[in-house]
Amino acid sequence: MCLNPLKATTVRLRLQGPVQCWLKSKWMRVTVVLPCSLSALLLCLSACQEAPEQTYDWRLPAGFPQPLVPQDNPMTAAKVDLGKALFFSQDLSFNQQQSCASCHQPQHAFSEGLTTAIGASGQKLRRNTLALVNVAYNSTLTWAHSGLTRIEQQILIPMFNEDPIELGITGHESAVLARFQTPQYAPLFTEAFGDDQVNFDRIVKALASFVRSLTSFNSAFDRYAYQGDDQALSASAIRGMDLFFSERLECFHCHGGFNFTQSSQHQNQRLDLRPFHNTGLYNDDGQGAYPQRDQGLIEVTLQGHDMGHFRAPTLRNVARTAPYMHDGSLATLQEVLAFYAAGGRGQGITSPLKDTFIQGFSLTVEEQQDLLNFLESLTDEQFGQSFDTEKPLNSDAMFSAP
Ligand code: HEC
Ligand code: HEC
Repeated sequence: MCLNPLKATTVRLRLQGPVQCWLKSKWMRVTVVLPCSLSALLLCLSACQEAPEQTYDWRLPAGFPQPLVPQDNPMTAAKVDLGKALFFSQDLSFNQQQSCASCHQPQHAFSEGLTTAIGASGQKLRRNTLALVNVAYNSTLTWAHSGLTRIEQQILIPMFNEDPIELGITGHESAVLARFQTPQYAPLFTEAFGDDQVNFDRIVKALASFVRSLTSFNSAFDRYAYQGDDQALSASAIRGMDLFFSERLECFHCHGGFNFTQSSQHQNQRLDLRPFHNTGLYNDDGQGAYPQRDQGLIEVTLQGHDMGHFRAPTLRNVARTAPYMHDGSLATLQEVLAFYAAGGRGQGITSPLKDTFIQGFSLTVEEQQDLLNFLESLTDEQFGQSFDTEKPLNSDAMFSAP
């Protein structure tokens, strides 16, 4: 039987009901303390002149919906090319020590092997770097933020945030811009925007276009489930898939749909879905408290019931994105499975805020291997591998896997 995960989404859609309202967020407060130049940029993001729209070839397999793209930043191949060059450029950090790709590495499906990320000045971030896989379909961005819905907004955080510093551009705006006013970049800006003027509005739009272009739909699972290739999965991986979509394990309730997360939006989806869940990782006070350093969605909504709520990330390419969870506190997929089998971790197992779908279960050794084989079948071997063939700025060294 060829199981269709899209069905699982439909069931969940009916059950879910309206989503929570938007509230003032922590990051909104972050934005307020940013310099005036950035406020101008924020205005500019919606108002600036745009080069004429072109059709972009998403190269999606037949039957998959196109992601939604903001009207003021239509996809073009030229913007994606410029965005790619910027994404891999250390000139984007104040001290030229870090690029987006320092944390979002192609060989790790654009995440990295660290427990939590480290910024350009050496400051430790509190969260694990998210993989950039089909981000264009995410209804919200980052691990836990119901109001952050545009990639253009999200990118401002690593660029301009001051605590912790990631790329650290704040206070170094003109120096950073000057590094891109070069004969090498001029043709890329001209192709993308009509002339070679360099500003942060254009840089952000190009970066967002590149991030949207990172689609991944060519795993063994895809070949089996969507392309009719019955040989693409081993018998063990098929058993693992059946477990994943079973009511005994419940995984699909939160990691459902073609992107293995309920947090999704696209052309054919009417409902605005922004679910977050408490998986029982922590329960510091018997009432479900997560550690002060990161309490998830509650920091944004200030609603008690959002304590420890995080977005279920996509599981596409998950075998490449260890360590796992928002704080990188589970090292391997085996540890993740043991965590779900136990119904949480430590005191988290009895947390009153834990989602009802995290009940625990027992797996035989063979079933555990089946599930691992299924999760590994979600790896798209070509994803992140094509960068050495396209060479904006001749930066092949930066684009090739180590
Ligand atoms: C210092 C490491 C670091 C750098 C540099 C960095 N990021 Fe990230 N990125 C992260 C972490 C950590 C998260 C998760 C943040 C959170 O949940 O609060 C993230 C999240 C994201 C997301 C959200 C993905 C999703 O599924 O919601 C996008 C998009 C993104 N980064 C793009 C970029 C771009 C573009 C750049 C360069 C301008 C960049 N990042 C630079 C570490 C980094
Ligand atoms: C109640 C919703 C829910 C259920 C059910 C659920 N998950 Fe998750 N999953 C999440 C959330 C939320 C996270 C992130 C939690 C965090 O970081 O605090 C997550 C994280 C993960 C991760 C780590 C991904 C990464 O990139 O770090 C994996 C792997 C995973 N889940 C697999 C599974 C499997 C396998 C099952 C079934 C046994 C399952 N999940 C059941 C919501 C769920």
